[in-house]
Amino acid sequence: VTAGILVSGRGSNMEALLRAVAAGCLSAHVAVVVSDNPEAPALGKARRYGVETVVADRRAYPDRTAQEGAVASALMVRGVELVLLAGYMRLLRGPLLAAYPGRILNIHPALLPAFPGLHAQRQALDHGAKVAGCTVHFVDAGTDMGPIVLQAAVPVLEDDTEETLAARILVAEHRLYPAAVQLYAEGRLVLEGRRVRILPPPR
Ligand code: GRF
Repeated sequence: VTAGILVSGRGSNMEALLRAVAAGCLSAHVAVVVSDNPEAPALGKARRYGVETVVADRRAYPDRTAQEGAVASALMVRGVELVLLAGYMRLLRGPLLAAYPGRILNIHPALLPAFPGLHAQRQALDHGAKVAGCTVHFVDAGTDMGPIVLQAAVPVLEDDTEETLAARILVAEHRLYPAAVQLYAEGRLVLEGRRVRILPPPR
C-alpha cells in the first residue's frame, strides 16, 4: 500500500512507521510526509529516511478547508492510498475525509472512547485511571471517535507524572501503529459500521 503520513511535531510515531518499513516489517511505501507546521522536527527525520516532505502551512491559505484541500491534493498526486495521522494536530473537516473515506488512520494516547482530545495522559491521571494505553482507529468526522482497529494497555503507576505515563504509552504506540498498518496492508481490516473486523492471516 502507498501511504502518506501527516505530522505536526516531534514525529516519533512517523519514525516508528518508517523504521518498520525499512526493517521489512511493514509492507508499505511511504510516498510523502506532510506537515502543517514548517518547524516540525518530524520533517528533518523524514528526510533522513529519504522520504519527500511537503509543508502545508495554515497561514499560507485563506482558511482551514483550503489548507486541507492542499494536503489532500499533495497526497493524491503522489498516489497515496492510505493516510496515517501521526501527531497531526488539526481536526479534519472536509477535503481529506471526502478524498480518503475509510482510508485514514490515527493513533491516540488513550484507551478510546475514554479521554479523547488533548492531554489524554493527564486526563487519565486526573481520573485516577489504573490502566492507560493507546488506540489506533479509523478517522471520521468526530474527534478521536472513529472505529477502533487495535489497542494496547499499560499500567498507571502510583507515582506517575504526565511525563512518565506518556513515555510508557509512547513505547506501546511505537509497536501498535506499525502493527495496525500492516493489518491494513494485508487487507485484513474490514469496516462493518462502527466496528472493525480483523480477518485471520491467510493460510
Ligand atoms: C502521540 O502521543 C500520538 O498518540 C498523539 O500525538 C503524539 C505524537 O507524538 N496523537 P509524535 O509526534 O508521534 O512523537
